[in-house]
Amino acid sequence: MKKRVAVLISGSGSNLQALIDAAQAPDYPAEIVCVISNRPAAYGLKRAAHHNIDTHIIDHKLFENRDAFEQALHEKLAAAKVEIICLAGFMRILTAGFVNQWAGRILNIHPSLLPAFKGLNVQQQALDAGVKESGCTVHVVTPDLDDGPIIGQRAVPVKAGDTAETLSERILREEHMLYPQCLARFALNGLEAALKTAS
Ligand code: GAR
Repeated sequence: MKKRVAVLISGSGSNLQALIDAAQAPDYPAEIVCVISNRPAAYGLKRAAHHNIDTHIIDHKLFENRDAFEQALHEKLAAAKVEIICLAGFMRILTAGFVNQWAGRILNIHPSLLPAFKGLNVQQQALDAGVKESGCTVHVVTPDLDDGPIIGQRAVPVKAGDTAETLSERILREEHMLYPQCLARFALNGLEAALKTAS
């Protein structure tokens, strides 16, 4: 049985597209059953609709507080019988309450080689630090930001003359390969095995 996956986005959704494309293979161990955006204008919603995947907008601005927003999110995920949540450019911090409800079942992709450069504008952080290599990480989400067990990473060189944009593009190309691989391993073998076979 394929694992039921929800992808949470806030923007372009190029990682969502990579997951959609991978999930079209008959033997891929996960299916994307819904895409949820906290931003009504997120382009990723169009990508999902194009592939006839259910889309939902849960606009955080319409909720009184974070708990109410997360309750709506939780209800939508539970109604869709979601087994794994993939954060893919989802730019809201999830509280410990939500993360614990879904403990060990939320993955995130982050555009740096964690534990280096957590938080926002991490490509600029990497340039400012003068590192010669950066990359991307898929990890399990825990209540601490960008901190959970690492499932996989891919590195890229930082080149002379790089800007945050050129570095982001180079990292994104690796993200698109890394996320589908990590989700497949996680869906197939579960958390412990995915960590042991980390790439
Ligand atoms: C990706 O680079 C992803 O790693 C990053 O946002 C971008 C989303 O691109 N995520 C974070 O920074 C999370 N803190 P996409 O919408 O084209 O997939």
